[in-house]
Amino acid sequence: MSINQSDALDSGAADLLALMRSETGRVVSGASLSRELGVSRTAVWKRVNRLRALGYRIESAQSAGYRFVGAPDTPLAQEVQLDLATEVIGREVCYRPSIDSTNVLAVEMARNGAAEGTVIVADTQSRGRGRLGRSWVSPPGCNLYFSVVLRPSMVPAAIPQITLMTAVSLCGVLSEAAALPIRIKWPNDLWVGGRKVAGILTEMSSEMDRIRHVVVGIGVNVNVAGDGLPEDLQRTATSLTLETGTHWQRVSLFRGLLQALDRDYASFCQAGFAPFRSRFIERSMTLGRRIRVQMPEGETGGLALDITEQGALRIRRDDGSVVDVLSGDVTVLPEI
Ligand code: BTN
Repeated sequence: MSINQSDALDSGAADLLALMRSETGRVVSGASLSRELGVSRTAVWKRVNRLRALGYRIESAQSAGYRFVGAPDTPLAQEVQLDLATEVIGREVCYRPSIDSTNVLAVEMARNGAAEGTVIVADTQSRGRGRLGRSWVSPPGCNLYFSVVLRPSMVPAAIPQITLMTAVSLCGVLSEAAALPIRIKWPNDLWVGGRKVAGILTEMSSEMDRIRHVVVGIGVNVNVAGDGLPEDLQRTATSLTLETGTHWQRVSLFRGLLQALDRDYASFCQAGFAPFRSRFIERSMTLGRRIRVQMPEGETGGLALDITEQGALRIRRDDGSVVDVLSGDVTVLPEI
């Protein structure tokens, strides 16, 4: 399968982009571009239009030539990969302006052999998926929706820890970038000011004792405004913009997230969950609170005590018994 398909730049437009970017703000004549690239002026003009269609701001300066003014803040592969300092994550980036769900494509690509670290990112999703069969509202032009293919040499029991490691990584970058007190609601939600700002959906394929691949899907509400969210979500969801009153550059935030995830994933593969457990505990909004947990096998609740070495949530129930929950949907109850 070709991963870059229709939204990738052809090499001609990519060469023109590199050339024009190096001359940002200056007028470059069509003749000199055509000379440098070894193509006709008509071919240059076609490439300019291809770049404009992707959102690049290129002015035509009378008959003098073209001026490159700026790149769009869209997570196009060539923008994300520009100065991306990662070893594994983002070596391949596949951007789609619109998709049903980046997780669906990532799972399909992983099954077809996509390399570890392949990232699928979309500007909008028509069927963004959340945990427990919920949907993830994914309006265009404002947020980040992406999925990463991982192939850790681990046993399937490590999967929940990958979700927690991702939550820690994401939480670190977002809280630092936006200077916000973002907290993790076990296992995978990021909350700020009593509302959810980001979520993670991990899907995997494994054999009895070996993971084949994991797809970690991440949705971050970056610039969505209050009225960009459906009414029923306005009380429970928020965005970086709503919390800070600032507009955020999606591409540079995305690069920061991929770089942190790349470092954290490498350290997780080497040292396991232990270093992330303490970071998770520090950033948890669940521990020490009375909670209710909805699990596939029923409901339980009590006081959230700890995160175990396996990544489970340890709870003391009202009858004094202590249980470890490996997956479930937590509601933090109001303090009385
Ligand atoms: C949740 O909190 O329920 C998880 C939300 C995960 C949403 C992201 S957006 C990118 C990726 N593609 C999907 O369809 N879902 C995840």
